[in-house]
Amino acid sequence: MNGPAPIEVLKQHLIDPEICIRCNTCEETCPVDAITHDSNNYVVKAEVCNGCMACISPCPTGSIDNWRTVLKSQAYSIEEQFTWDELPAQNTTASAALESLPQADADEAESTGETSDGIDVDTVRGSTLPPWSAAKPYVNLYTHKLPVVATVVGNYRLTGEATESDIHHIVLDFGTTPFPVVEGQSIGILPPGTTKDGKTHHARQYSIASPRDGEREGYNNLSLTVKRVTQDYRGNEADGVCSNYLCDVKKGDAVNVIGPFGSTFLMPNHPNSHLLMICTGTGSAPMRAMTEYRRRRRMKGATGKLMLFFGARTKEELPYFGPLVNLPKDFIDTTLAFSRTVGQPKRYVQDAMRERAADVGQMLRDDNTFIYVCGLKGMEDGVLQALRDIAEQNGIEWDSLWRTLKRDGRLHLETY
Ligand code: A2P
Repeated sequence: MNGPAPIEVLKQHLIDPEICIRCNTCEETCPVDAITHDSNNYVVKAEVCNGCMACISPCPTGSIDNWRTVLKSQAYSIEEQFTWDELPAQNTTASAALESLPQADADEAESTGETSDGIDVDTVRGSTLPPWSAAKPYVNLYTHKLPVVATVVGNYRLTGEATESDIHHIVLDFGTTPFPVVEGQSIGILPPGTTKDGKTHHARQYSIASPRDGEREGYNNLSLTVKRVTQDYRGNEADGVCSNYLCDVKKGDAVNVIGPFGSTFLMPNHPNSHLLMICTGTGSAPMRAMTEYRRRRRMKGATGKLMLFFGARTKEELPYFGPLVNLPKDFIDTTLAFSRTVGQPKRYVQDAMRERAADVGQMLRDDNTFIYVCGLKGMEDGVLQALRDIAEQNGIEWDSLWRTLKRDGRLHLETY
């Protein structure tokens, strides 16, 4: 005799389209390629997601951490998820079905796609948790539905007028509205206007370039490093909606801001911690924030070393070139790498790191070293390879150090 058909219940992993800032972090992090996107939403393939949780903590907004109990046969397809403006309510039939199962069956049914206890450090490339001594950040204080209005108090071009790279330093002031941030966090900007199909634009995410106590110390303001986008990823002419908006804002303009975001790419706060920072172009924003915080704090007894590798096309296209080269050598050890200086061979950050292998090796050997990589996507492989080569040259077993760095919140990657 046939028994009743088994009720298969799934705890389906979903992304909240109202909070998601479309930063691609989850798609990059997912070890099984369960996450994809279209021009509207980031979505999770129910049949692929194994609930490994690798994507949860890197998500800067927490929009990734949403679950609905559904009958497996009725799991939301990615086509449905693409059309959503908000998450569906919990389907009561599925949760009732789950409740009606005997406990052992319910546990088993729920465990399909359920979380594992921890994140397997072998499946991720960087840390999914912050340094142990990082300040506790606030996230998602302001959302798409309730943004905060900031006032532009400065907009300066950072790159040479004659260069193609148009990078701006933009200062936003929050007046009397609380907007607490720490170095390494980002904010979302809501550009005005609508898309071709009449929808409001999604927020665009920018790293904060100033320390927690303000672009100007003691002020409720922060700065961003924004490059005007004039090409799409295929190299075709295309104006970036938000970067062009921001590069053209004037003093006194009102800007809608959401966030802050990010709870892992944060700096350590113990004074003897060392920072090894590697960046290209606008990836310098969080490095500037951390460096400036350390500079302000230096008087108060911080002894950790700062080492920076910074890549740009030319000296004129390196944001913050002037202030950077003026920082005292006993405060920060900076090596610049230029790829398009006329008459000079192409040089990338990873080449500069290899040239300084002995000093980088010394930092790698120290348990108080925290590594930050921010900038072009392409640099990530090159930098990780350089770290491996340098470690091995210094007699350090990279695979085991890499695991330790990831597990201990000491290797932070943010590339785009
Ligand atoms: P390139 O001259 O080859 O483009 P951008 O100005 O486009 O933001 O780039 C910043 C710097 O990063 C440039 O010097 C650029 O060199 C360099 N770069 C490009 N690809 C890589 C890579 N794979 N690894 C490291 N640096 C890179």
